[in-house]
Amino acid sequence: MVKAVEIRQFGGPDGLAVLDVPAPAPAAGQVLIGTEAIGVAGADVVIRSGALASYGFTEGHIPGSEVAGTVTALGDGVDPAWLGQRVWAFTGTGGGYVEQAIASAEAIVALPPGLSAVDSVTLGSSGVVAHFGLSHAHFAPGESVLVRGAAGSIGIMTVQLAAMRGAGSVAVTTSSPERGARLRALGATQVLDRSGEGGTGYDVIIDVVAGADLPTFFDRLTPNGRMVVVGAIAGQPPAEFGTKLMASFQKSMSFATFSAATAPAAEQHAVRTEQFEAAARGELQPVVHELLPLEQAVLAHRKMDDGEVFGRIVLTPR
Ligand SMILES: NC(=O)c1ccc[n+]([C@@H]2O[C@H](COP(=O)([O-])OP(=O)(O)OC[C@H]3O[C@@H](n4cnc5c(N)ncnc54)[C@H](OP(=O)(O)O)[C@@H]3O)[C@@H](O)[C@H]2O)c1
Repeated sequence: MVKAVEIRQFGGPDGLAVLDVPAPAPAAGQVLIGTEAIGVAGADVVIRSGALASYGFTEGHIPGSEVAGTVTALGDGVDPAWLGQRVWAFTGTGGGYVEQAIASAEAIVALPPGLSAVDSVTLGSSGVVAHFGLSHAHFAPGESVLVRGAAGSIGIMTVQLAAMRGAGSVAVTTSSPERGARLRALGATQVLDRSGEGGTGYDVIIDVVAGADLPTFFDRLTPNGRMVVVGAIAGQPPAEFGTKLMASFQKSMSFATFSAATAPAAEQHAVRTEQFEAAARGELQPVVHELLPLEQAVLAHRKMDDGEVFGRIVLTPR
């Protein structure tokens, strides 16, 4: 038996339960990973709340999509060279909060020397979203970028990548001056509050938040500016979203969404490998908010709900 955390009841963090489940066995094409680090993502919290029940998530679901550890068993057809390797893995839409996780052999990446399991789960998924979000926005060196919702793992990676790639300026929205100072240390050059008040003239806006205020950010773009929404922490935009979009007609602005589900797996693999190597060289900084034992997943989710997390909480099974 192995320890796992499941959603016993949709709603608050107390609906999570720690239990013993039979050790899983990898099917053909899969690997079994003894987990050392498990990323706690915003999406896990949304699934736990029950908001995605209509997408097929049920009570009994084990959350978590990003783990790292050592490959301990192989399914048929998997290259034997993986056995004993330390890897990062995407486990799909769940199945991560567990001492031994299953992943497709196509969804694992070897950890380079110098990158810890903990650090890998803070940037394995978010770094890819940040990378493709910027390319979806046709970001070019010298341009001004605004990252809305910059204190989360996706925002932190977007700030760093934009700065590394020669952005003319990198503005952020965040809820406190302390967070603003931490974002400046990662490459931000302008700090705004959540409303974005006082910020204008951005070539690119990468938005992790959406919600009621989304249309007010159209006004902050330059002519020919591009906004890409990569998350919706604050939920759906208001009904007048379309009207407001059309009111920006004269600016020739572009509005787009980006989901990693549409990025080809081979490209994601290449980007992730490159980012892991950059992090191992110290060129990218994974930001870990806190390490907590797997058994304290309830506390981890409470901290997420309370909005106190800067970067990523990582669960450690052993
Ligand atoms: N596009 C993709 O492929 C993809 C992949 C994975 C996840 N996602 C999505 O990305 C989102 C999670 O990203 P994340 O983990 O980086 O974010 P996160 O940590 O959940 O939140 C990022 C920051 O946004 C700010 N924020 C929270 N609520 C807000 C509100 N109501 N209004 C304004 N700002 C608010 C908070 O910072 P401050 O308190 O400092 O303002 C928070 O730290 C989810 O919507 C998830 O579904 C997308």
